[in-house]
Amino acid sequence: MTVLGKNWMDLLKKFDSEPYGDLKDKRIEAWKEIITNLPQIESSKLDLEDGIIVQGNWNKEDEKKAKERLLRLIPWRKGPFNIGNVFIDAEWRSNMKWDRILGLNIEFEGKNILDVGSGNGYYGFRMLGKKAKFVICLEPNLSHLTQFLALNHFIKSKNIRMIPKRIEEINFSDKSFDLVLSMGVLYHQRNPENHLSLLSSNLKEGGQLIIETLIAPDKYGEALVPEKNYANMPNVRFVHTKKGLNNLIKKTGLRILKTGSSVKTSLEEQRSTKWMPFRSLVDGLNEDLDKTVEGLPTPNRVVLVLIKS
Ligand SMILES: C[S@@+](CC[C@H](N)C(=O)[O-])C[C@H]1O[C@@H](n2cnc3c(N)ncnc32)[C@H](O)[C@@H]1O
Repeated sequence: MTVLGKNWMDLLKKFDSEPYGDLKDKRIEAWKEIITNLPQIESSKLDLEDGIIVQGNWNKEDEKKAKERLLRLIPWRKGPFNIGNVFIDAEWRSNMKWDRILGLNIEFEGKNILDVGSGNGYYGFRMLGKKAKFVICLEPNLSHLTQFLALNHFIKSKNIRMIPKRIEEINFSDKSFDLVLSMGVLYHQRNPENHLSLLSSNLKEGGQLIIETLIAPDKYGEALVPEKNYANMPNVRFVHTKKGLNNLIKKTGLRILKTGSSVKTSLEEQRSTKWMPFRSLVDGLNEDLDKTVEGLPTPNRVVLVLIKS
């Protein structure tokens, strides 16, 4: 059944038998071995609405094998996932961002969706839980793609795919999508205007663009431009202010339909765990937790729903 324009269908086909495409990475063979050796959960029951929960019959031996193999895929940045009795407690409680998105009353049912910079597909699976028709995740980071493949081994959905490409590498615009999401991606872009234009070029007539991004206090004018890192994060190019975001959106021929409130990222939402045992938000903040280690305002994030003007 064709659900998208021809170019997208052809692209998906290219990755049908080889999810890593022709990309070279010395970790791929080991990852494939982990995924092919993941046990099956018998007569599993799936819940993508209340979380990402796969339940079923699993003997202790299989549960142990699954946990050990999934742990080899660390760091798990986005989650959590309940796979049988294995609880993948990721660095981010991504359900908190998801709840903020749901708070904007976005309709997912029956929609074709492109999630640009999807991470391991957490939100894509949650969108299926809201009856999305088909989700394409674009994610160039191959360790995120590997986690997605491991998760979909248990979830077994044919309505979600992950393609290891950047949006800039997609050199066509079939206008195939009712919704395009870019969450946690805009502030990494050297050319944020071009990023918004590319996202918008993939929208169907009347489609909506969902942007989730960091937001800086008004005193920074258009944008806070970190000299080097921001809360230890490399490659943060521009943290726009409200005014900066408004101007950027106007320049790209878009307009704001809805804005969520600006929310400070808490140490409850982002923290190190057994599944992401490295540095996290707390290490990017000063002792009083009121500035980043670079002396900048602590991270605040906002969700915007945009349409073509
Ligand atoms: C901070 S993570 C956000 C993940 C997820 N969207 C979320 O909100 O939790 C940003 C992701 O975007 C991906 N990314 C960065 N630039 C991209 C681009 N130009 N096209 C597609 N993905 C990109 C990165 O590999 C990374 O996994």
